[in-house]
Amino acid sequence: MAVTGAGAGSGNGRPAARIPELPTRLAQACRLQALERPPVWLMRQAGRYLPEYRALRERHTLLEICAQPELAVEVTLQPIRRFRPDAAILFADILLPVVPMGVDLEFAAGEGPVLRNGVHEPADVERLKPVDIEDSLAPTLRTLRAVRAELPADIAVIGFAGAPFTLASYLIEGGSTRRFLRTKTFMYRHGAAFDGLMAKLARVTADYLLGQIRSGADAVQLFDSWVGWLSPDDYRDFVLPHTMLVFDAVRETGVPAIHFGVDTGSLLELLRDGGGEVIGLDWRTPLAEGWRRVGYDRGVQGNLDPAALFAPTAEIERRTRAILAEAGGRPGHIFNLGHGVLPETPLDAVQAVIDTVKSWENPE
Ligand code: CP3
Repeated sequence: MAVTGAGAGSGNGRPAARIPELPTRLAQACRLQALERPPVWLMRQAGRYLPEYRALRERHTLLEICAQPELAVEVTLQPIRRFRPDAAILFADILLPVVPMGVDLEFAAGEGPVLRNGVHEPADVERLKPVDIEDSLAPTLRTLRAVRAELPADIAVIGFAGAPFTLASYLIEGGSTRRFLRTKTFMYRHGAAFDGLMAKLARVTADYLLGQIRSGADAVQLFDSWVGWLSPDDYRDFVLPHTMLVFDAVRETGVPAIHFGVDTGSLLELLRDGGGEVIGLDWRTPLAEGWRRVGYDRGVQGNLDPAALFAPTAEIERRTRAILAEAGGRPGHIFNLGHGVLPETPLDAVQAVIDTVKSWENPE
């Protein structure tokens, strides 16, 4: 594997040295290189809609799968074997790094994540421990190395992490939320402590992504899934500097980064300023409009509505081609959904999307 300096920079923020390998189609798109068709992969392409994933989940919890590289590698590769997308995404969860920070994490059946010992008052921020990624997240880094070794060179391996705001919301809310009221209350009432929390999370996130890059990630995606619940002013004041720190650290490695959030139609320019060679678009913003606002010096990823996969096959194909037409063959488009594959999604719908993109030819 063409990675040098393994171990260097762990925990101290030094960039990972990386010798460029033969770039994958995904990395080429991130670098705005012209391709005969865009790369395609789907967020949450591994998971519950796959019968082979459900079979494994009958015997193991989500956290067990993440902690055992042989299982996590298997789950990462399941959608690749079935659908042949252009990239595999590491099987892990954005919440894994909060465990070594001292937070109890559990995935309760049907409820999503439950976090105890999180952040309820300013003093709790002090309690959060710094993380030695190579040590605490060793199984995940090992999974990434094994996936990279297993896959052919033209299929990219995408590493990922949760962004500081999205992680902070889970720490403060203790789980999923619709209103982010505890998060915003904390942010407005304890501004300095919130900033301290974001700084700690940004450091861990940057170190985690650098660790994944040293372990062979061809690209990384930062999930700021819930940042669309903030106003532009709050994003600028509370989030932007911390997100910039993460992308600045990744940029030094030369490995491209994708910056994703949901419902970010009012924040696209700010997300671009936060960083990332590629900006994720959900289905609420037409791709052509989103790209114009982001600027053509960046790529865009998206943006088929995950619910469109419940339409008849001909309609799925039509909508997939409509997005390809909106991108117009411009270099820098990565085809994806606007958010993750839903658990009830029919398998042949996923195949239809991937096959439609792979058989498309750039009319340019
Ligand atoms: O295929 C992939 O995308 C790779 C693996 C992956 C998982 N989580 C595994 C997982 C990725 C990239 C994530 C990211 C993640 N996790 C995000 C950001 C992406 C997004 O959807 O915006 C968030 C917010 C989380 C936190 C999280 N993890 C929640 C809210 C839940 C419960 C909701 C749900 O879908 O059940 C999880 C659980 C989780 N993480 C599952 C999977 C496959 C559910 C499967 C299970 O219980 O077996």
